[in-house]
Amino acid sequence: MTRTLIKDTVNKIGEEVLLKGWIHVRRDMGKIIFIDLRDATGLIQVVFASKDKDFMALADKLRSEFVVAITGKVNKRPEKMVNPKLLTGMVEMEAKKLEILNESKTLPFEIDKDTAPVNEELRMKYRYLDLRSERMKKNILLRSQMLNEIKNFLHERGFAEIETPYITKGTPEGAREYMVPSRLHPGKFYVLPQSPQQFKQLLMVAGFEKYFQIARCFRDEDQRGDRQPEFTQIDMEMSFVDQEDVMKLTEEMMIHLAKVVAPEKKIQKKPFLVLTYDEAIKKYKTDKPDLRKDKNDKNELAFCWVIDFPLFEWSETEKKLVSSHHPFTMPHKEDIEMLDEHPLDVRAYAYDLVLNGYEVGGGSIRIHDRNLQSKIFRLLGVGKDDAEARFGHMFEAFTYGAPPHGGIAPGLDRLAMIFAGEPNIREVIAFPKTSDARDLMMGAPSELPEEQLKEAHIKVLEK
Ligand code: AMO
Repeated sequence: MTRTLIKDTVNKIGEEVLLKGWIHVRRDMGKIIFIDLRDATGLIQVVFASKDKDFMALADKLRSEFVVAITGKVNKRPEKMVNPKLLTGMVEMEAKKLEILNESKTLPFEIDKDTAPVNEELRMKYRYLDLRSERMKKNILLRSQMLNEIKNFLHERGFAEIETPYITKGTPEGAREYMVPSRLHPGKFYVLPQSPQQFKQLLMVAGFEKYFQIARCFRDEDQRGDRQPEFTQIDMEMSFVDQEDVMKLTEEMMIHLAKVVAPEKKIQKKPFLVLTYDEAIKKYKTDKPDLRKDKNDKNELAFCWVIDFPLFEWSETEKKLVSSHHPFTMPHKEDIEMLDEHPLDVRAYAYDLVLNGYEVGGGSIRIHDRNLQSKIFRLLGVGKDDAEARFGHMFEAFTYGAPPHGGIAPGLDRLAMIFAGEPNIREVIAFPKTSDARDLMMGAPSELPEEQLKEAHIKVLEK
């Protein structure tokens, strides 16, 4: 017999079917054993009420999370026994054959209830069990649906999905980089990208005009609820566009996404409010204001754009100018003449998308002129030789007919967190890291055998 999925049992009343899945819960009522059977598609009540003693003895062995194959008849439940909370609540299965495919130890925590109150380290250590719980499964499936919608949305609009390297050379975007030692080139290192920023710009020089990638990014920075050392961007870049074009497309994508994956939520204002950086700071004292009428309302989506960020900020620790966004960002045309005298007054064609107080995306129009790019590095205190060594390929590319271009990178994790109504991004990542960047399930980071270190030309000085 071929297997029937639990969600399809509602269309099989009166038929004999084979179900496979996990024992979700078991309830004994005298001589009758009720179980809820779970598979990836749902739950169904299965009744064991046979006169066959051996069969009932086998059923009696069932415990939570045992994996089973059960053959039986799908019956319509009597009117007053219908469970409206269950997708299959109007039916139940009368078990006739049972095979135990695998047993399970008692779980370290209960997964038939919401696992949010359970100690998070325990949840992370046994993430594969945590993900069995309804809320976590829903979150991960919501994320999967988002990815599908995003890809379709962008493909339909002529974007090419292009992968860029994960072991590469650094892009300066403020955070510390993860390093990968080279075995073949002693003393040399790759780094994991903080974002595909340079590659996507080079794809514009290559003439693709519309690029996107669901890109994993790596940043070795201090963690917070809305930050992870590796996270996912919906990375986009377009040629011959201005700021408004990028914002319009992103806005359309957000409206579409919210409608499909979170239909219960309401977007407060369309088109999205646009604030300049100065306005946001003056009015809300932050560049990521939470504009919801009720700050506790998870069903309100208050998107806004913040534009006209300053091109530079003054770093007190480094005693020099640093980029507010990244060094490839285009200054406002009418501010370019202030670059030397009043660099801190220069505005950038940079924009952030803010949602309910979180920065859910950031982008900019880029510099495509070699001389202007050199000047920006000079102002950032990057010496000519240093700039040449680190970004020579960018300067060179700009001399071969680089088109005007710009883009944005919405953060998938933060969007999924808000669409799912969760308080932190760990709840929407299948295998997240702890706040101190550990993977408790795999046990990473970990020490490596001496041999392996030697091969990579690494000597650990002190622990
Ligand atoms: P930026 O650094 O602003 O821009 O990042 C874009 C978006 O990525 C998300 N994000 C994060 N999400 C989870 N954990 C993190 N540690 C983390 N850091 C960032 C945020 C943020 O808005 N290359 C540019 C984009 C561009 O200019 O096109 C960039 O990476 O939602």
